[in-house]
Amino acid sequence: MRYGEDVIEEVRSRNDILDVISGYVKLKKQGSNYFGLCPFHNEKSPSFSVTPSKQMFYCFGCQKGGNVFSFIEEYENCEFPEALQILAERAGVSLPERSMGEEEKREQSLRTRLLEINKEAAKYYYAMLRSQNGTPGMNYFNGRQLSEETMKTFGLGFASQGGGLWRYLKSKGYKDELLGQSGLVTFDERRGMSDKFWNRVMFPIMDEKNRVIAFGGRVMGDGKPKYLNSPETKIFDKSRTLYGLNRARSTKTGYLIMCEGYMDVISLHQAGFTQAVATLGTAVTPGHASLISRFVKNVLLIYDSDDAGINAAKKAIPILKNAGVTSKVVNLKPFKDPDEFIKNLGPEEFEKRLRNAENSFYFEMRVLERDFDMSDPDGRTRFVGAMAGSIAAMENPVERESYIAAMASRYSIAPQNLQEAVVKAAVDRDRIARYERPRTGRSEHKEEREDGLHKVQRLLLTSLVENPEIFSQVEKYVKPEDFDEGVIRRVAVALYDQLRENKLNPAAIVSMFDDEEDHSTVAMLFHSQYGDIEAKSDRERYITDLVVKIRKNTIMKEQSGAGDAGGKDLLKNELAKRRMVDELKKIHIKL
Ligand code: GTP
Ligand code: MN
Repeated sequence: MRYGEDVIEEVRSRNDILDVISGYVKLKKQGSNYFGLCPFHNEKSPSFSVTPSKQMFYCFGCQKGGNVFSFIEEYENCEFPEALQILAERAGVSLPERSMGEEEKREQSLRTRLLEINKEAAKYYYAMLRSQNGTPGMNYFNGRQLSEETMKTFGLGFASQGGGLWRYLKSKGYKDELLGQSGLVTFDERRGMSDKFWNRVMFPIMDEKNRVIAFGGRVMGDGKPKYLNSPETKIFDKSRTLYGLNRARSTKTGYLIMCEGYMDVISLHQAGFTQAVATLGTAVTPGHASLISRFVKNVLLIYDSDDAGINAAKKAIPILKNAGVTSKVVNLKPFKDPDEFIKNLGPEEFEKRLRNAENSFYFEMRVLERDFDMSDPDGRTRFVGAMAGSIAAMENPVERESYIAAMASRYSIAPQNLQEAVVKAAVDRDRIARYERPRTGRSEHKEEREDGLHKVQRLLLTSLVENPEIFSQVEKYVKPEDFDEGVIRRVAVALYDQLRENKLNPAAIVSMFDDEEDHSTVAMLFHSQYGDIEAKSDRERYITDLVVKIRKNTIMKEQSGAGDAGGKDLLKNELAKRRMVDELKKIHIKL
C-alpha cells in the first residue's frame, strides 16, 4: 500500500522548502529566489536555487531539481518512504501505519542478506588471520606494529592464498546469485565462482552503525594494486562512507581528523587519536561532508604533503564548508603520513602538530600564492585581487571583516586598499552571477539540442507558474493537449487543473511522479529562463509570442489532418492561412 496523496501533500506543505534546505545548504536571497552552492555537483559560483513561491529547488548547473521530498531523497540518498518519514517527523505529522510494498520488501531483504554475508565474511577473515594459514598476515600486521587489541578493535583479518570464502559462504547456504551481488566473489567464464580477495590482509569497512558493509584488502608486499576494495553494492556507497567513523563518532574532542588511508586511521587510533577517519581512496564528497556534519562541526585535514595532497585538501575545504563544517590543515612535514609521523616522533609531537593546524583560509592563500610571482609588484597585485575575490565570497560580513584585517597585516597591505579590492571583487562577482548563471554549463547544450517548440512550451509553463494571473487569457488559445506527449503534457494537465481552481501548487505536481529524473524534469519545466526582461511590456510581448507559436502549431496540425508533415504545403488554401494569421494577430497577453 502507498500513502495517500493527502498525507503526502500535508507533510510537504508543512515543510517549507526554504527552511528545510537552509539546514543543509547556505543560501542567499537574490530577488525572489535564494541561491547557494549546489550540494549535488562541485561548483564555485552558486547556481543552486530555491524558490519559496514554487516550493521547489533547481540547479541551473546540473539540472537537478524537484520539491522538498526530491531534495531529501537526493541529499540523504534514500527512497521516498524514508524521505516522507524524515519530513513527517520534522513537522510533527504522524503517518498512518502502512505495510511495505512487495518491491520494497524485496529490496529490504536483499540489503539485510548482504549485510549478513559481509558479517559472515568478516568472521571468516578474522578467524583465518588467527589460524595457521594466517601466519603471513599476522607477520605483516606485527611488522607494522599493530597490537593484538588494535587488530581486534578493527576486526582485521586475512584472506589466504587459496581463498575459500566462496566455499564457506556456499556451505552456509547462500546462493551464487546473491553472493555475486555482495561483491566478495566474482564470476569468471573459465574458473567459475572465486573469491575477490586472496593473499591480502583484510580491513572490514563498517558504516557508522558498526555494520560491516565492505572490505579493503592490502597486499603484503609491493604488489599491485596495493589496496583492493569491495565494489559498490546495494549496501556500500564509497562517497558516503568514512573508514573509522563507527569508532570516531563518539569522540569527545568535538572534531574529526581526516586522513588518507586505512593504516593511518588504525595507527592514529592505536596512538590514542580515536577521532581519526579516512575516505576510501577517494576525494571528499558532499556525501562525506553531510555525514560528518551529523557528528561534528570541525575537521582537521591531514593529507600527504605532495601536490596531490595539497590539491585534495584544497578541494575538501569548500565542500566541508558548504555542509557547515570548518576545517584546518595539519602539516606533518617532513613525514609522509600520520603512520610514519607517529612511528618517528611519537604521539606528543603529533598532538602539537594538531594544535598548530593552519586555518583553512590561510592555507588556501598560501597555496594560491604559488600561482603568482610574488617578487614582482604586478604579480603581487594580481594575487591581492584573487585574494580579495575569496574574501568577497564569504557570506558573513563579520567573517569578511576579520579576514580583511588579518590578511592586510599578514601581507602588509593597507587595510583600506584591501577593503576596496574586496568591494570591487564583490561587484564583479555579482555582475557575473547575474549575467552568466542562466547560460552556464550543460543547460545551454541541452537547450540547444531540444526541439524549439518544446522549449517554447517549457517557457510558457514557467510563465504560467510565475504569472498565474495570465491563465484565463492563455487558456483561450493553448490547451493542455497542445503540449507534447510525455512528462510535459502530464504537467500541463495538472497545472491547468490547479490554475482553473485557483490553487496553484507546483510542488504538488512533482509528487505525482515516482521517478527521480522526472522530478528534475518537472523542476526544469518550471525554471525556464528567458533572461532578464525588465520592462513589463517586453515581458508581455515575450509571453504573447510563446502563446502564438504554440497556437500556430496547433492550427497547422489541425489543418494538415493527423500528420505533422510540413505545414506549408498543406496550407495552400489561402483562406485558411489568412484566417490563421488574423487569429494569431489578435492574441495579446496582458500581465
Ligand atoms: P600503507 O602503505 O599501507 O601505509 O598505506 P597508506 O594508508 O599509507 O596508503 P597510501 O598513502 O598509499 O594510500 C592512501 C589510501 O589510498 C589507502 O589507504 C587506500 O584507501 C587508497 N589506495 C592506495 N593505493 C590504492 C590502490 O592501489 N587501490 C585502491 N583502490 N586504493 C588505494
Ligand atoms: Mn602509509
